[in-house]
Amino acid sequence: MAQQTLTVTDNRTGKRYELPITAGSVRAMDLRQIKAGPDDFGLMSYDPGFTNTAACRSAVTFIDGDKGLLWYRGYPIEQLAEQSTFLEVAYLIIKGELPTASRLKEFVRNITVHTILHENIKTFIDGFHYDAHPMGILVSTVAALSTFYPDAKKIFDPESRKVQVHRLVAKMPTLAAFAYRHSVGMPYAYPDNDLSYTGNFLNMMTKKTELKYVPHPVLERALDVLFILHADHEQNCSANAMRSVGSSNVDPYSAVAAATAALYGPLHGGANEAALRMLTEIGSVANVPAYIKRVKAGEIRLQGFGHRVYKNYDPRAKVIKRIADQVFEVTGKSPLIDIALELERIALADDYFISHRLYPNVDFYSGIIYQAMGFPLDMFPVLFAIGRTPGWLAQWQEMLTDEETRIARPRQIYTGADGRDYVPLARRTDDPVGATH
Ligand code: CMC
Repeated sequence: MAQQTLTVTDNRTGKRYELPITAGSVRAMDLRQIKAGPDDFGLMSYDPGFTNTAACRSAVTFIDGDKGLLWYRGYPIEQLAEQSTFLEVAYLIIKGELPTASRLKEFVRNITVHTILHENIKTFIDGFHYDAHPMGILVSTVAALSTFYPDAKKIFDPESRKVQVHRLVAKMPTLAAFAYRHSVGMPYAYPDNDLSYTGNFLNMMTKKTELKYVPHPVLERALDVLFILHADHEQNCSANAMRSVGSSNVDPYSAVAAATAALYGPLHGGANEAALRMLTEIGSVANVPAYIKRVKAGEIRLQGFGHRVYKNYDPRAKVIKRIADQVFEVTGKSPLIDIALELERIALADDYFISHRLYPNVDFYSGIIYQAMGFPLDMFPVLFAIGRTPGWLAQWQEMLTDEETRIARPRQIYTGADGRDYVPLARRTDDPVGATH
């Protein structure tokens, strides 16, 4: 077998170094020994956006971006979407194996008993402006949960971690639904623990004066599958935020708040909202070619297209297209689906998109389904957050129990001023060269 090392010659000094290769990687710290002189700090790697840097080892999710594969704990996403439920997938992601029937029952019970929020949380949701974005409310309220559960600070106690995991998976839908009800001026609908996880979420979102809300089974299943599709996606921006903030040993509510904030951005979970706005702006199939032209001219980006890792069709988008048909049978067809299909058709045959390897991602079609189901646009990233919570928690637990974990603290290449002496205020002139205001 070939030697598993990398030989590097530093042409500044002529010295040769042999760096071990493990799991297809060299350790960035092995570069530090490479120095131009005795005062040199040592070589670093430079990788803005972590495009080629593995920050951890993880056994949760596998993606092959070239082949368009996505596995949770080794199970293909298509099989889970077809045969599993969101809470079973949450168990799988968090604990590593599919549950037995009795374990699943216990897990579902543990989640279900935690769906209620402390009444005070309603009080501070009430303090938000009537048109506050529900994602902003979610970020704040999930962070606030840490003040209700001071025991969550015991992050190295497995029992405490277990309870916080149950609480977080259980309470995210309640926080999300309460944020929505506040924005539309409706009274909060309390959890109904007779319903499934997803059925209960629909209940808290849409219940009006009826004594018992009964979810439509097709819509309940469709949303459950959408949650499955969003449950984890290895080291994406929000998982990285979860690990990075969590590596300071803060409680999980604060870390989930950071992950939720990361998800809010339009380049990440906010893309489903942006994609739907884009389809609405395009307005009709006839306007698609002109829109594509603007994208190719670099004026705008096609929202819901492209991915850092997938250089092939996102397997989640394939599943979502199938669910769309089932949902439309209940809700009626969304006119936006024809615009989306035409965009996809033109883009996938176009040189620009082929050469850049740009395909529809999970956010391209999910928004159309959410809208058909009656969710307002600004709830789309919130739905993503509910689905992604088990993934964040699995990544967090894995990070905490990994012996190699250290506080996330990257290096930088300093580009600022050389050391200089303080100038007293009276001697400073306006607009010194290079000043920014
Ligand atoms: N439309 C048009 N051109 C694009 C797009 C797009 N959506 N995405 C990438 N490109 C082009 C980009 O202009 C660049 O071209 P060139 O090399 O000629 O300058 C090239 O493709 C590489 O782009 P990049 O920005 O360097 O790629 P990245 O890996 O840093 O970004 C991305 C990945 C997802 C942020 C990006 O594709 C994008 O902005 N997509 C639209 C937003 C979106 O749909 N986000 C959801 C991602 S999936 C779910 C999630 O993670 O939340």
